[in-house]
Amino acid sequence: MEAIPGPYGLPLVGNLFDIRHEDGFLKGAEHLADIYGPVFQLTLGGKKAIFVSSAELLKQFTDEKQFVKTPPTALSGGKGAKGLFAAAGDDPDWHQAHRILTPAFGPLPVGDMFEGMRDVANQLCLKWARMGDDHEFLLTDEFTRLTLDTIALCTMDYRFNSFYSDKMHPFVEAMIGVLSYSGKRANLPALYTKVFGSGEEAKFHEDSLIMDKIAHQIINRRRQNPVDKPDMLNTLLHGKDPKTGEIMRDELITSNMITFLIAGHETTSGLLSFLFVNLIQNPKTYLKAREEVDQLVGTGTIQPYHLKELKYLNAALRETLRVTPTAPVISKKIPDHRKDDFVTVCDGRYHIPHDTSIKLLLGKAMCDSSYFGEDAHEFNPERMLETNPNFDKHMAAWKPFGNGSRACIGQGFAWQEALLVAALVLQNFDISLVDPSYVLRVKQTLTIKPRDLLVKAKLRKGVS
Ligand code: HEM
Repeated sequence: MEAIPGPYGLPLVGNLFDIRHEDGFLKGAEHLADIYGPVFQLTLGGKKAIFVSSAELLKQFTDEKQFVKTPPTALSGGKGAKGLFAAAGDDPDWHQAHRILTPAFGPLPVGDMFEGMRDVANQLCLKWARMGDDHEFLLTDEFTRLTLDTIALCTMDYRFNSFYSDKMHPFVEAMIGVLSYSGKRANLPALYTKVFGSGEEAKFHEDSLIMDKIAHQIINRRRQNPVDKPDMLNTLLHGKDPKTGEIMRDELITSNMITFLIAGHETTSGLLSFLFVNLIQNPKTYLKAREEVDQLVGTGTIQPYHLKELKYLNAALRETLRVTPTAPVISKKIPDHRKDDFVTVCDGRYHIPHDTSIKLLLGKAMCDSSYFGEDAHEFNPERMLETNPNFDKHMAAWKPFGNGSRACIGQGFAWQEALLVAALVLQNFDISLVDPSYVLRVKQTLTIKPRDLLVKAKLRKGVS
């Protein structure tokens, strides 16, 4: 047995300075993986954590029979009740919300949301068309407006109207504050935050209150103006647990509302932004994706049945999430009923004890060249085409939506939205970088997005 490698930590701060990086903690961790290999350990926030970054280990740790999710501190919502994302697997609140909400995100309800998605996507296209060919804008901000408005319209029948304002909606500003600080706080010892963090803590509480207030506004509006439709908000408010017949208590409703508003837009906005950087920086892939849309849809209206038929675009989205998974880290541990257990990795070289948080660096693991090939770092949608002979192998280590019962509940929603928007943009615009020498850098909160992605959108000829 060998000691798990990793840098020596300092008293109080542990390895905080080792993982620090100007592009965020994720890049810091990925850099340490380059130095110490696919398994290394750090002490952060006073606790030991193991970081894992090979494709085989990713497959091992996403086996739900062996490992469970370690919930993050971010997105924990109201004081006691934790929303779906932040709740532990043994929390009765998670089980209740999971049973009530899962049917609301099945293929049929998501299919019914297509027109709502189109409504918001059309707003984006109209705005770009009106702004003109020379208008320069941050693509990531536009996709954030789009995805926030889409989740709110499709699941809560609420319009944020983000395209009618130059500024980001206050919900987005508050969310960025909360996610950035909770990510940072997770790596600091409690004493350090108590002594040095009073200003940041105050801002964190202020931002949390803003999100709470907006969630309450949406809930109260629905309670005062009830509508008879089976959307997610009605499911949250009135849905009965099929096991117990109970409905959710108010505190849990609010936590889940905030969870959906955040988880339902942040990641999809990043996915669309990374997709376009990848396509623009690999012009052959851009042409292929556009040709596919032109051949299948032409200048007509995109219909729900087109989405599955856009094979290359589906593959390009899968490939984007492989090279830049927008929820870049998930955490696992040995379940509590196996308290004395440990896990052996790397041909028996290391033992990982129970109750150690195991952080899976998804982007690094999904770019493991020993599994995905020498060109693993390159954006190559062909790799993710269903006709590729290695497709099943590639998909076995493709985990951008997590795994098992804790996998993303909104995967179908995100996929439909991303396909529709990408197809609509390809059909109507030529997107180009303002600075052709742009080098991709990420901006990290709980999720990742491209930083300073300034583009122009030129209306294509023959399209109105
Ligand atoms: C969970 C990724 C879109 C709602 C997750 C997890 C990942 C993920 C990796 C598991 C986290 C973990 O194990 O700790 C993504 C990506 C998306 C996306 C990459 C888009 C490209 C969405 C959307 C919604 C959503 C659109 C809502 C409509 C959630 C919720 C959970 C979750 C509620 C927690 C599920 C549970 O534990 O029961 N997502 N997500 N996500 N996601 Fe998503």
